[in-house]
Amino acid sequence: MRNISLFIVSVLLMSLCSCKGAGEDILVENDGDNAKVTVTGRSRYLMLPIQESSWEVRVRAEEAAADVPAMDIRLANDSIDYWLPFPLPEGRGPKVVNFSGLWEGAVAWKSLYCTDKPELPAEAYRPVYHHTPSYGWMNDPNGMFFKDGRYHLYYQYNPYGCTWGNMHWGHSSSEDLLHWESHPVALQRDTLGHIYSGSAVVDYDNVSGFGEGAVVAFYTAHSEAGESQCLAWSNDNGLTFTKYSGNPVVVSSDGIRDFRDPKVFRYGDKWVMVLAANYEVRFYSSANLRDWEYTGCFGKGYGAQPSLWECPDLVQLPVDDGHNGMKWMLIVNVNPGGVFGGSATEYFIGEFDGKTFICDTPAQQTKWLDYGKDHYAAVTFSGTPDRTIAMAWMSNWQYADKVPSAPFRSANALPRELKLFSCNGQVYASQTPVPELSSLISNSYTADGFSLQAGQDNKASLLDKGSCKLSFNVRLEDKSCLEICLVNLSGESVSLILDGTKLSLDRSHSGMMTDRDDFSQVVSAPLDLCSAFDGYDMDIYLDRSSIEVFVDGGKLSITELLFPAEPFNALEFIVRNGSAHIGDITVRELALGPQRIG
Ligand code: FRU
Repeated sequence: MRNISLFIVSVLLMSLCSCKGAGEDILVENDGDNAKVTVTGRSRYLMLPIQESSWEVRVRAEEAAADVPAMDIRLANDSIDYWLPFPLPEGRGPKVVNFSGLWEGAVAWKSLYCTDKPELPAEAYRPVYHHTPSYGWMNDPNGMFFKDGRYHLYYQYNPYGCTWGNMHWGHSSSEDLLHWESHPVALQRDTLGHIYSGSAVVDYDNVSGFGEGAVVAFYTAHSEAGESQCLAWSNDNGLTFTKYSGNPVVVSSDGIRDFRDPKVFRYGDKWVMVLAANYEVRFYSSANLRDWEYTGCFGKGYGAQPSLWECPDLVQLPVDDGHNGMKWMLIVNVNPGGVFGGSATEYFIGEFDGKTFICDTPAQQTKWLDYGKDHYAAVTFSGTPDRTIAMAWMSNWQYADKVPSAPFRSANALPRELKLFSCNGQVYASQTPVPELSSLISNSYTADGFSLQAGQDNKASLLDKGSCKLSFNVRLEDKSCLEICLVNLSGESVSLILDGTKLSLDRSHSGMMTDRDDFSQVVSAPLDLCSAFDGYDMDIYLDRSSIEVFVDGGKLSITELLFPAEPFNALEFIVRNGSAHIGDITVRELALGPQRIG
């Protein structure tokens, strides 16, 4: 009797609502905090209204594969920030999606619609020539490899929101590292956990048994239970992957929680995996890519302290173009603990004996790969002939989910070639954007150089598109100070200040986000690796929402995000002290067609 009355009450409480979208019917049946949404029709996507300040609702298609868990989605409660597509199961017949955790009065239920082609609003801050996901959240670059003339870039991806969550591997590929084609998700969050960062190699000799030329990807499965390393392979050049039934392939021997981001590379006839384990990296070796043996660790007490180590990489590079032998460069991304707070990339130079890394410099010495606040999770492509190319995520965990670019969030920094050079008895890394960038030049002009004395300035209206490369040389008289200012018609500016000992970047008046102290903070980099005698060669890459500054062929770099109300269109040079000579200024406008929506 009690059961029957409960049933009647719940039927009465259950509310029904229906929406129409693109010729389909969407029936929403609410039952307290649970809802069943039935879609009739053949659209590929159910568009979900998202409110970032709302809580996470669990969403799952009834027909999803057994290893696909419910996704956590910030469905709109009382206002809508944007819509994102939720893929519907293929095939005829009604499709059911279950929701749990949102009350029946939420605005979401009346705002669902279906489509085959998600239309996303125009975004003022979508970069012109930097890689971005079509929509959703992106952090670290993952699994980058080169095969058959194509570069593949995977990335930490949440397709269901522009904030972190539901970690998948998104996928893009390109022939020139600049025109990226967006592909379907390569690895989906599963019941073992989120698919955290990792790497991929091409197994040309089929040592793994997954097939000649199989792409073998390594990632961290992250769940409440901990972190372990898993593998997945692909026989179609990285478009689709099969997760290995023997996963996980590496587990931590001491139960450490932060145990992640495997980077695999070839060493002689073996494979090596380096991964981050709290405040150190650990090394493993394998002959077949499936069975891994621990060989050593490195790092406790090294570099910036205290800092959590993530996303390591180890590459061997020639020093001074090969004139001074070879060295190993261990890249470690730290967060928190970055040079100006939050996230940043440091590196160590030394030797690798197949088992562990031996650092050339004392533990307390820190070398930063980039001095800006928005250069993180930098790792290299595997399989690139003749050069080593690194790519970073262009953001900082301090504020990454606050930047005003939704319905996509985050871009990658430009792909950069890494080189080693010696200076003052030590070896350092330089990074220069790939030469392929010259193919994007749509227009180029040069203005004559000039000299300035203290108190003088020179303003040139040089830019109009806000996506360009600026190149010039700066010679400073001893103790001079030069400010190079990019300005726009809204009165916003970003300043580079050169004083002969350091280069600083001040974005505190650059537009949105500057009300945050961690964003407006001025950063500076020492100029001691650069040549004052010949003047500083400056290359500045400006895009709609970023600036990347390289001095003397990338011996120093600063990468930062900018969110101006309109593009910076003029360049102003002001001498604060002493005198300066600015060489000819070349402006190269950079243009690229729109990215494809996957
Ligand atoms: C670095 C990181 C990685 C982890 C991933 C999760 O940004 O924290 O250590 O694998 O992001 O998205």
